Amino acid sequence: MKTNEIKVVFQPSGRSVFVLPGTLLLEAAGRAGIVLQTPCGGRGTCGKCKVRITGGACAPSSAGKQELSAAQIDEGYRLACQSYVTEPLVVDIPPESRFEAGEQILTSHAGEKATLEPIVSKRFFELDAPTSRDAISLVTDGNETNFMIVPAEDSGNGEPIFLWQKDVRELQLATGAIRAGINLLLRRVGLAPDDIHSVLLAGAFGNFIRRNNARRIGLLPQIPCGRIQFIGNAASLGAKLALLSSGERERATRLRQGAEHVDLSLDPEFQMEFGMAMMFPADDVDACVEDVHE
Ligand code: FES
Repeated sequence: MKTNEIKVVFQPSGRSVFVLPGTLLLEAAGRAGIVLQTPCGGRGTCGKCKVRITGGACAPSSAGKQELSAAQIDEGYRLACQSYVTEPLVVDIPPESRFEAGEQILTSHAGEKATLEPIVSKRFFELDAPTSRDAISLVTDGNETNFMIVPAEDSGNGEPIFLWQKDVRELQLATGAIRAGINLLLRRVGLAPDDIHSVLLAGAFGNFIRRNNARRIGLLPQIPCGRIQFIGNAASLGAKLALLSSGERERATRLRQGAEHVDLSLDPEFQMEFGMAMMFPADDVDACVEDVHE
C-alpha cells in the first residue's frame, strides 16, 4: 500500500481494496473482484452500475444526478462509473447492480474449499522521498547498468530487487509495438488521436494499468482520461452475453463481419513508426484526475 492509498470496503461481501485518490469506484470494485453491470460501457447513461455510499463521502457526478432521483442521491446512491474515491468509503452493492444479477448458467460448483497458505505474501514498506543519490547504480561485467530499487533487507526474500536496462527496453518494445499499431490504424482511416471517442482496456492489462501512466509512457495517445475506460474481463463477458442473448450474438456476428484484418508487419511504415513510438514522450503530459495525487 502506498501511504496515500485509500481503503474502500464493499458490502455485503466485506471485500476491501486500497486505491489511489481519484480512482473510479467502478475500477475499485473490479480490483475487489466485484463486477458491476455496465451496459452503457461506463458512459453514465444507463444507471445500472449504481451503488450506495454508506460510509464516507463521495460527491455525486453530473451524470449521476441525471440518472438517479434526488431521493436516491440523498440516500447515498452514486453511479460507480462516474464517481471517484477521494476518502475512505464503505460501499453497498445492490444485488441488481452486480453483473451476476443476470441469468446464471452455473450457480454451484463441486470444488472443495482449500485452506489458503500462500508461499508469497504482500509486504508494505515506506521509503523516504527519492533523491538522485538514492538509486544505487551498478555496472555489470557486460557494462549494463541497473538500479537497486529494493535492498535485500527490505525485499522479503533476502534478495535485492533490481531494475535492469533490459526491463526498460522490454517496456519500450511493448509500448512501441502497441502505439505504432494505434498510429498506423488511425492513419489508415484518416483520423487523429483527438477523434478517438473511447479506448476500452480489457482483462488484467486493463485492470492494472493507470491511465495517466499509459499516456505518460506513450502507450496511449494524449486523449482525455475520461475516454479511457476499463471493461474488465471482456472475453468472459462477451461469451456470457453471446450465450444468454441471441441479439447480442447477432451483434457480435455483425461486428466480426464488419471487421477488417490489418497485418501491421506488412505495412512499409511499421518499422519507422515502431522505432519512433519506442521513445518515451517529453514531460508535458496533462495529469488525469486519478494520478494527480501520486
Ligand atoms: S455503466 Fe452505465 S451508468 Fe454506469
